[in-house]
Amino acid sequence: MKKYLDILSDMEQKMNEGQFVSGQKLPSVRDAAKQYGCSVSTITRAYSELTKRHAIYSIAQSGFYVVEKPGNRLDVPESKTTDFASAMADPGVFPYLDFQHCLNKAVDTYKYDLFTCGDSKGMESLRHTLVSHLAGDQVFAKAEQIIVMSGVSPALEILARMPFPNGNPVILVEQPSYDIYLRFLEAEGIPVCGIARTKAGIDLRELEEKFRQGGIKFFYTMPRYHNPLGTSYSAEERKTIARLASKYDVYIVEDDYMADLGEEPGLDPIYAYNGTSHVVYLKSFSKIIFPGLRLGAAVLPEKLLKAFCERKRYADTSLLSQAALEVYIKNGMYERHKRNIYSQYAARIRALNEAVRLHNDAGLLEISDIRTGVFVQFKLPQTVNLERLIERLASKNINVVSGKRFYLSDYLEREKFLRISISRAQPEQIEDGVWEIIDEVHREVKRQNTFKK
Ligand SMILES: Cc1ncc(COP(=O)(O)O)c(C=O)c1O
Repeated sequence: MKKYLDILSDMEQKMNEGQFVSGQKLPSVRDAAKQYGCSVSTITRAYSELTKRHAIYSIAQSGFYVVEKPGNRLDVPESKTTDFASAMADPGVFPYLDFQHCLNKAVDTYKYDLFTCGDSKGMESLRHTLVSHLAGDQVFAKAEQIIVMSGVSPALEILARMPFPNGNPVILVEQPSYDIYLRFLEAEGIPVCGIARTKAGIDLRELEEKFRQGGIKFFYTMPRYHNPLGTSYSAEERKTIARLASKYDVYIVEDDYMADLGEEPGLDPIYAYNGTSHVVYLKSFSKIIFPGLRLGAAVLPEKLLKAFCERKRYADTSLLSQAALEVYIKNGMYERHKRNIYSQYAARIRALNEAVRLHNDAGLLEISDIRTGVFVQFKLPQTVNLERLIERLASKNINVVSGKRFYLSDYLEREKFLRISISRAQPEQIEDGVWEIIDEVHREVKRQNTFKK
């Protein structure tokens, strides 16, 4: 008995000390039995316990491998560019090895079934797994209400095109808002109007007025880690939006594209405050795992299910991705990865805030108090020429995104800002990058002042 526990802790120690590294193949059961001078069954038991603890995983007909540890980064080639523009997850924090383990496990478990097309609503077992996964975020839904999508984007498109029970035509969007969706709505000629959202939040009286005036089919919103502002709504704002939705029969499309990328103690999604009648909750797995997985989930009020499913007749998401995600959630790897990615991004946001504190002594940048997520808005003086600023920064290998594109083409009350994303900015690049931005803004302001004289 003691022997087994000694072997188990010796193996764990080797992994902690780096003698067995992520992805490394462990000795075969027979070889390990020889090394430890014990029986094959003792090693089999130790490996099976380590598998249960998610320290190792098995690949059929190959052997046992060490699972990826938090903090283990893939070797991504170093770049001279400071990328404050890209919103994609950092490939250096992608959970490659863990996910590989889940893909193998998925194939082992589901075999041939994975290579069919499957149900257009998504894999039955994944939808059941998502019931408890979403409940962890206070999104309580039955499996029948959950549709597995190939990301949030196709769900947004279907919702824009389908009729809603309130019979209204107009989509209300925050200004600024997710640029790609705005361009989609404009290209499709779908009636859309805007309401200002700033770092201070949204004017709830104006929102009520818009809901009251009628004509609004749904209000598209990102309550947490708004793209591009980076801010989140307070509990009060969420509760009020939920209440107004029911009062005026306006639907809310809640885009939780950054779900799990941070902690918001005491803040639940709008869905949780609405009694589920008027809120469509959308969750993406692109930012937290990787975008190429193309997986997301739509949780729909019962009244919308039929119209939505009529427009989602095709099984457009691979069963392999779905089954691997199911394994990834069920075996606890998702939860662990979430903490890892969250702490890495939070450290980058801290570095960004610190750099602004150190170098923004003239107060040219206005930023909001953001601790988690990926985006921060750098609000600029109105006199700054944004295009020239961005070009000059690009010539210094600093990529940033203009705030302009996050507005509807005919929306006039715009703020002037840069959207800063930390998901691909490496921690060691952040301070210099922020310094350069502030320096260039200084030059811009000076240039304008000289021009005026
Ligand atoms: C606000 C917002 N919603 C949705 C998406 C797309 O999500 P998915 O990859 O799940 O389609 C993005 C992508 O950046 C986004 O910024």
